Amino acid sequence: MRKTLLGTMAFCMMPLFAQKEASIKIFPDQGTEVISRHIYGQFAEHLGSCIYGGLWVGENSHIPNTQGYRTDVLQALKNLSIPNLRWPGGCFADEYHWTDGIGPREKRPTMVNNNWGGTVEDNSFGTHEFLNLCELLECEPYISANVGSGTVEEMAKWVEYMTSDGDSPMARLRRENGRDKAWKVKFLGVGNESWGCGGSMRPEYYADLYRRYATYCREYDGNKLFKIASGASDYDYTWTEVLMDRVGARIEGLSLHYYTVTGWSGSKGAATQFTEEDHYWTMGKCLEVEDVIKKHIAIMDKYDPRKRVALMLDEWGTWWDEEPGTVRGHLYQQNTMRDAFVAALSLNVFHKYTDRLKMANIAQIVNVLQSMILTQDTKMVLTPTYHVFEMYKVHQDATYLPLQLICDVQKARDGREVPMVSASASKAENGKIHITLANVDLKNNQQVSLSLDNVKVKSVNGRMLTTKTITDHNTFENPDVVKPVAFSGAKVNKGSVDINLPACSIVVLEVQ
Ligand code: AHR
Repeated sequence: MRKTLLGTMAFCMMPLFAQKEASIKIFPDQGTEVISRHIYGQFAEHLGSCIYGGLWVGENSHIPNTQGYRTDVLQALKNLSIPNLRWPGGCFADEYHWTDGIGPREKRPTMVNNNWGGTVEDNSFGTHEFLNLCELLECEPYISANVGSGTVEEMAKWVEYMTSDGDSPMARLRRENGRDKAWKVKFLGVGNESWGCGGSMRPEYYADLYRRYATYCREYDGNKLFKIASGASDYDYTWTEVLMDRVGARIEGLSLHYYTVTGWSGSKGAATQFTEEDHYWTMGKCLEVEDVIKKHIAIMDKYDPRKRVALMLDEWGTWWDEEPGTVRGHLYQQNTMRDAFVAALSLNVFHKYTDRLKMANIAQIVNVLQSMILTQDTKMVLTPTYHVFEMYKVHQDATYLPLQLICDVQKARDGREVPMVSASASKAENGKIHITLANVDLKNNQQVSLSLDNVKVKSVNGRMLTTKTITDHNTFENPDVVKPVAFSGAKVNKGSVDINLPACSIVVLEVQ
């Protein structure tokens, strides 16, 4: 193992040491950027049991519900302070025709969900059900609209249907369907993965289509649209280059997708059965998102040095094999402490780029990929990832504080260097400073010495997520195996803080 200095202030490699000690210096006076709360965004696709069974069960279900939404899930999600929710896809979005999902539910047409297991979709969850859910969750809707198989007229009318308050044809139709007042819809995605499931397009062709579709998405009655162009996958820097060159002046946001996945063909590995080596590989792959973000940002900076266009990482998270015995194509996976680390490390990285990275949406909210919640009939379980989002919510809209971190590094089996400690800090409006820390080392505690430049710490308290074994997870039978506990390992020492960070732990501290 060796030590490395990480952070926003300086980057350099230090000589070899074999110590389990780390140090963090935070610069409370140097915060200039607010961490966009939209980095804590969520994503709900018509995929497997994300919508049906996960969020929506209908008013007549035996599962306790509030206007058709699962009451247990609704309550749990409210506790996350979700800033925005992306819907209806994903790949589903480019086959979705919104008019199928309005009007009396029993009269809505069915369709085949070709992307996700060929399941028959009955459209009982549509525009009203989604936008009303956003109202209940007090979050901003993010509509991902169909470019791949939809028409310009269809998209234009959807925007009118949702947001026009006047006496327009679509506003009248909405009123006939029971909703008088228009909703406010800010975030509008013009297509999804247009290089793949969204139409297999070249970036040049998509850029032209973007101009055409976006032209007719009007702003009604004070509803200001934030239009987001379909962006690159992972390392496809050409896509970003072409889009910024051709439509950079016409977009508010450009998306990017990055999954922590072993590869797209063959087995991706089981969610709950993996080795320590697999764990460190996962940490390395998840942290590589920083390099990917930096490279996309460098391209954006070239075309947009004033950072007018936001980078929107509107799909990210882990992607493992589907759980044995579940429906193929429904992407139902369990969620262990390893997934919690991916969430913690990723969010710590995202904060650093908040001057450009204005939104991120973990995939997906319930029952799909790296979800917050798993459901099974009447039962619900909160995943380790849920707990990270809950612990980290203190960072939403707080001022990002630069820091320097020195810690041990381990080489993963593919040669990627994995720092054992990850950290991020922010200052809330009330002056409290929050620090999120993760020790991904599965064997060693880290003695962390934490100091704040020009500030003497008076008090510290915290909470911790930790497990004995990295594969630990919550099940319907044992739902509380992984859950936050009070953390007593941080002590104020002459204005600094000494932290004993246990192996395999994630901690949030509040210092004053
Ligand atoms: O999140 C699952 C899928 O991953 C989405 O539908 C698609 O956009 C991406 O490829």
